Amino acid sequence: MLTVDSLHDLKGKKVYVRVDFNVPQKNGVIRDNNRIVAALPTIKKLLEGGSRLILMSHLGKIKWKEPDPAKIEEMKKANDMAPVALALAELLPGVGVHFSPDTRGEALKKAVEALKDGEVLLVQNTRYEKGEEKNDQELAAEWASLADIYVMDAFGSAHRAHASTVGVPSHMKEAGKPVALGYLMLKEVENLSRCVEPSEADRPYVAVLGGFKVSDKIKVIDSLLKKCDKILIGGAMAYTFKKALGEEIGDSPVELDQLDYAKKCYEEANGRLLLPIDSVVTDKFEESPERKIMTVDGGIPAGFEGVDIGPKTAELYKGELSKAHLVFWNGPMGVFEQKDFQAGTIAICDGVRAIKGKAFTVCGGGDSASAVKQFGYRDDFSHVSTGGGASLEMIENDGHLPGVDILR
Ligand code: 3PG
Repeated sequence: MLTVDSLHDLKGKKVYVRVDFNVPQKNGVIRDNNRIVAALPTIKKLLEGGSRLILMSHLGKIKWKEPDPAKIEEMKKANDMAPVALALAELLPGVGVHFSPDTRGEALKKAVEALKDGEVLLVQNTRYEKGEEKNDQELAAEWASLADIYVMDAFGSAHRAHASTVGVPSHMKEAGKPVALGYLMLKEVENLSRCVEPSEADRPYVAVLGGFKVSDKIKVIDSLLKKCDKILIGGAMAYTFKKALGEEIGDSPVELDQLDYAKKCYEEANGRLLLPIDSVVTDKFEESPERKIMTVDGGIPAGFEGVDIGPKTAELYKGELSKAHLVFWNGPMGVFEQKDFQAGTIAICDGVRAIKGKAFTVCGGGDSASAVKQFGYRDDFSHVSTGGGASLEMIENDGHLPGVDILR
């Protein structure tokens, strides 16, 4: 596969770069610019060569099935890319950063034609186009016709076979134009590949899985059971496993349609899948001075729901981590957004900090990456991924992602 380093004679060339600028934002205020910063090495390298950059990304979700056009407009407004262009301009002082409110047609073509060498055009949210998520071929062909070269640097979106991630490079390849991977993609693929195919020296390989639903993680649990020595389960999905094994779980969330799978999975793991032995529980999920919070061993009493792993589980899991040579973590252990239920997630961070330099540790994006950042443990991990869904899918599909495979 070509990489940005293998692209030469860039002066005057129009380069379409698919970035993942799907940043957390509300009313135009960006809460975390990590994904924009992560794309800068590729952007700067291409600009140094004198190319003209067309940056494309999605932002948030537009539910096109919504029958009310006014509601679609609201969703578009809530996911306007214009504030991201301002944030990007601040990170690229001295560079001409332009914004195209148009996602196709003559106006977009003109904006591209107006670019000078070393300038950037960030295009409005790709999901403003109904055909984006359907990988509409006409749309992909139009976007592909805008540029001379394609660079993929949107790791967080590489599991989506959309027009901007798969349709465009496929049309560009057909037209004999170069398609290449950016630096962020290279780094992500290299680090996550180690979790896909661990070497003997990587053993014990320990995975930590949290989050809400077993159903979201079925494929990755199946895949990790083939690769890992231990899987430590936390988060709300632990209660589905506990219920499947006949434990009381009180009012904890449960996926009744996943009980058979959870039981089968636990039995087949043959002692390699660990569940919480104690839990932090509450009678009220919403923060209030009257609510009761306590720690219970084993089952959860009626009227209470589990909201974090308990201290004994935290010690057990830290003990497993202390022996690991390779760690993959996806999903928080509890409701870490609330102070009372953060301890389990922080314990995993501590467990990783304790093996820094001795083990290769990967945080697989999403909420766990936000927690790692929020609690100040970013530098303790060998790699914190920018893609939650993408890193899980890479593991599930033995290293394959549609946005990468198309470049082969
Ligand atoms: C992400 O935030 O995981 C990526 O940007 C993909 O977003 P999506 O789940 O809306 O496709």
